[in-house]
Amino acid sequence: MPAQPLQLDLPKVIGHRGAKSHAPENTLASVQLAHAQGARWVEVDVKLTADGVPVLMHDDRVDRTTDGHGAVRDMTLGEIRRLDAGRWFSEAYAGERVPTLEEFLDLAAGLGLGINLEIKPCAGRERETAEAALELARRHWPAGLPVLVSSFAVPSLEAAMAAAPDWPRGYLMDEEAPDWRGTADRLAAATINVNARRQTAESVAAYRATGRPVLCYTVNDPARARVLFGWGVAGVFTDAPLEMLAGLGG
Ligand code: G3P
Ligand code: MG
Repeated sequence: MPAQPLQLDLPKVIGHRGAKSHAPENTLASVQLAHAQGARWVEVDVKLTADGVPVLMHDDRVDRTTDGHGAVRDMTLGEIRRLDAGRWFSEAYAGERVPTLEEFLDLAAGLGLGINLEIKPCAGRERETAEAALELARRHWPAGLPVLVSSFAVPSLEAAMAAAPDWPRGYLMDEEAPDWRGTADRLAAATINVNARRQTAESVAAYRATGRPVLCYTVNDPARARVLFGWGVAGVFTDAPLEMLAGLGG
């Protein structure tokens, strides 16, 4: 299948896990701050609790980003909600909770943000994570606001394609997959989302030659962003929307 026709007005700057440099990642406070700093879109990571509830979390374990210990896949929503997801970052954020996807969607919609839901499944839960996230998001996300669903996990993108065929998908890669063109076509991917550090003018040109906009993670230096834009990259994920937008001149 060719590239999905993209209706999205992609921004040049997307807040990565909210505003990860300035607030605890993947929290509501981080999303609010990214918006306050001028980001029009935010990216968040979505995982499933033991009882199947989609929450915002990057790692397989809660240890790095909360005051708790354990694997997300083994913890119920109730257990995860008791954790503090802000104090590890700074005392100013003490009391922040791990948000449910539903809470995030309500906040982002209220702020009028575009969103990139990165499906970040624990191993073995690739399909069910995408299915649960999309079942919820289809009910909660307003029709007029932009959404992009991405994943490194091809089975998650396949499940997203079945659950929400009309929602654009971003094919995420770190190392370039040998058959990335075929996979992007099969998934009818709308965008190619790649590691900025691995890119060259040639790699970006090859992705763009398939008709797909290219998004790059994670770029915190405006000078590097300018180089990427010069190669035709459409947008960058940044931990620091304020500095990036200022460095790019608004
Ligand atoms: O979606 C872009 C980027 O977030 C992918 O990498 O590990 O930060 O989720 P990671
Ligand atoms: Mg991510």
